[in-house]
Amino acid sequence: MKILTIETTCDETAAAVVAEDLTVLSSIVASQDDLHRRFAGVVPEIAARAHVQRILPVIDETLKKADLTLSDIGAIAVAYTPGLAGSLLVGVAAAKSLCLAADIPLIGINHLHAHVFACQIAANTSVYPCVGMIVSGGHTHLYHFPDALSPVYLGGTIDDAAGEAFDKVASMLGLGYPGGPAISKAALNGDSSAYKFPRSFIRDERLDFSFSGLKTAVRYAITGPGNVDLSTIELSPQQIVDLAASFQQAVVDCLVAKAVQALEKTGLNRLCVGGGVAANQLFRRQLTETCAQKNVLLYFAPLEYCTDNAVMGAIAFERIKLNLFDSLDLDIEPGLVRA
Ligand code: KG4
Ligand code: ZN
Repeated sequence: MKILTIETTCDETAAAVVAEDLTVLSSIVASQDDLHRRFAGVVPEIAARAHVQRILPVIDETLKKADLTLSDIGAIAVAYTPGLAGSLLVGVAAAKSLCLAADIPLIGINHLHAHVFACQIAANTSVYPCVGMIVSGGHTHLYHFPDALSPVYLGGTIDDAAGEAFDKVASMLGLGYPGGPAISKAALNGDSSAYKFPRSFIRDERLDFSFSGLKTAVRYAITGPGNVDLSTIELSPQQIVDLAASFQQAVVDCLVAKAVQALEKTGLNRLCVGGGVAANQLFRRQLTETCAQKNVLLYFAPLEYCTDNAVMGAIAFERIKLNLFDSLDLDIEPGLVRA
């Protein structure tokens, strides 16, 4: 069976056709980065309107690229949670309409579970049971995944997500949007020990993260304590790359430490990492070294499936195996994180 998967949880309009053996027949991601760049973050209303304009052309192009029509598709999967309400509504409405028109079943999928399932796409063995870590623009969370569909929440950020911190710090440093790739590029020429930034909860037992204090620390390193006005400050090129490298190192240290703690706490020896920040090269390198030392089997999502995409929606096959379909009453659940 081939399924069409749809992803509109945040600011990417994406669709894919995937076969049961997880072969990707086509995948299209229409990025909205250009629309959100001048705000240094995603503006929900703009994102929703852009999804409305793009969703049908993206689906059409995805089917054409796979040389298929809707009549070749056995089911449609759509991410219905978590995400921005206006964005989710567009994908879910499109999926329901197409299911009704083609008389095929609908499968609602959880976007966070799908980010972890992205690791399964490239693995030639089951990646479950595992600790699943999602590090993206909207989420930084750890789960125990006994299987693909029923994770148990272990911990997560109490304020900003790691990707959000990358985006805001890049904006402070004038490095552009999205911030993750820009910071990691700048950091290549910087000294990661030039600035001492906080690593919240790193020695704490709880499996939580906090990045808002780190953001403030970077701001004060730029402006001086107590001053929040960035407009009058001129940083030298060396200061910019040193700040980028020191900030990136602080985030990566926290992510690696908590992943290790989650493995120790659950007794699992398999770790799956997905989400946009999982594309970060320093993070990939540092976590790979740590997991090798600890004999942990580490699976990163393939680079092309770290940031939002519809291919990871192939997690729907796990639901199909269990006969778990949804009715056309499926509603969005913007804030569902702990389930
Ligand atoms: O998974 P994603 O596409 O969207 C959400 O579901 O949130 O993640 C986007 C986030 C952005 O904050 C972006 O700055 C970050 O992932 N990101 C990175 C890198 N590439 C993307 N962060 C650090 N290093 C990268 N190389
Ligand atoms: Zn995502």
